[in-house]
Amino acid sequence: MTWQDRWQNSLMNNYGTPPLLITSGSGSRVWDDTGKDYLDMIAGIAVNAVGHAHPVVLEAISRQLSTLGHTSNLVATVGPIELAERLLSLLQAPNDARVFFCNSGTEANEAAFKLGRLTRRVHTVVAQGGFHGRTIGALSWTAQPAKQDPFRPLPGEVTVVPFGDAVALKEAVSDRTAAVVLEPIQGEGGVIVPPDGYLQHARAICDTHGALLMLDEVQTGIGRTGRWFDFQREGVTPDVLMLAKGLGGGFPIGACIAYGRAASYFGPGSHGSTFGGNPVACAAALAVLRVIEDDDLLTRANTLHGVLSQQLVARGSGLVTSVRGRGLLIAAVLDRDLGPDLEKAARAQGILVNSVAPDAIRLAPALTITDADIAEMLTRWERATSEVGG
Ligand SMILES: Cc1ncc(COP(=O)(O)O)c(C=O)c1O
Repeated sequence: MTWQDRWQNSLMNNYGTPPLLITSGSGSRVWDDTGKDYLDMIAGIAVNAVGHAHPVVLEAISRQLSTLGHTSNLVATVGPIELAERLLSLLQAPNDARVFFCNSGTEANEAAFKLGRLTRRVHTVVAQGGFHGRTIGALSWTAQPAKQDPFRPLPGEVTVVPFGDAVALKEAVSDRTAAVVLEPIQGEGGVIVPPDGYLQHARAICDTHGALLMLDEVQTGIGRTGRWFDFQREGVTPDVLMLAKGLGGGFPIGACIAYGRAASYFGPGSHGSTFGGNPVACAAALAVLRVIEDDDLLTRANTLHGVLSQQLVARGSGLVTSVRGRGLLIAAVLDRDLGPDLEKAARAQGILVNSVAPDAIRLAPALTITDADIAEMLTRWERATSEVGG
């Protein structure tokens, strides 16, 4: 039996049957079961922030696992305390900010959803095309009909506005609104960058109506866009921030961080997670943050953005018209709806990317990717684009 047969005979079909069986990874390369190598330009969908098998992360995980692997939250461990302190310091958060740890992006949003309910208001405003996860609360904020419709009715009273449109946002928010929930850049929606000042407008609108501004940085956070957190660009402070993906560098962990009044909504018994704040996940996240800081990977993400913006087009065989995104969250925009074809051709040439829209290819490589791997990837990119576009 092939692995595809075994997959189909044992796993639910929610992902379809994947095209590859990956067996190992190191840095920005992964290998499949036939020994073929791929330049991993999607990094587990913006997760492997410091690449595969980074020695600092490996060492931190093994040391923690061999000391204390899990306890539950019936007792405290040092990991979540240290990690919460570190995140709050990177955020330059006020003294009243607090962190809740969970295991994924959808859970970080679910915690935020529950904080919203504790305002005693129910109405939320979200952006069209946004993605906040798949559990029922988070799904009610994921304004993509194909993902929501089979699961209706969804909870809440949710108004959907066009992303990036501050006027529409202003009209939608009222004194009944619990929260406005936005991604600083829509990742799953197609790497859509809103106009400058959008988050500042959102902040002001929320302040006028006493609504919470909740920013979902599950995909954009932890250095991905060339700052620790993308919202820092606009000099605003959210009331609630959701993180996951890159935080654990491949080890599952999520965080919901609340400021001010929102930080005091959860009391004993309000919310919880058996695995949330697991010491191994926290050790992995602390190691990831250390590598990003020590290796100045925020600067590196910005530098590589410049290189890729130019080179993906220049070596795009006329098929690639432009690039959007920030840092190392990038979409190469095509002149035709050939995204799925290019994703496939890239795979054949040994590059892993993702067609995030019919006319766009998303790249979200490790922040540690080397110049040599970028050069090799561009050679392969040129071959793939010329095959599809030529
Ligand atoms: C912005 C955003 N929020 C939430 C999620 C859900 O995260 P997870 O798949 O870890 O549940 C994602 C995943 O792509 C995301 O991009």
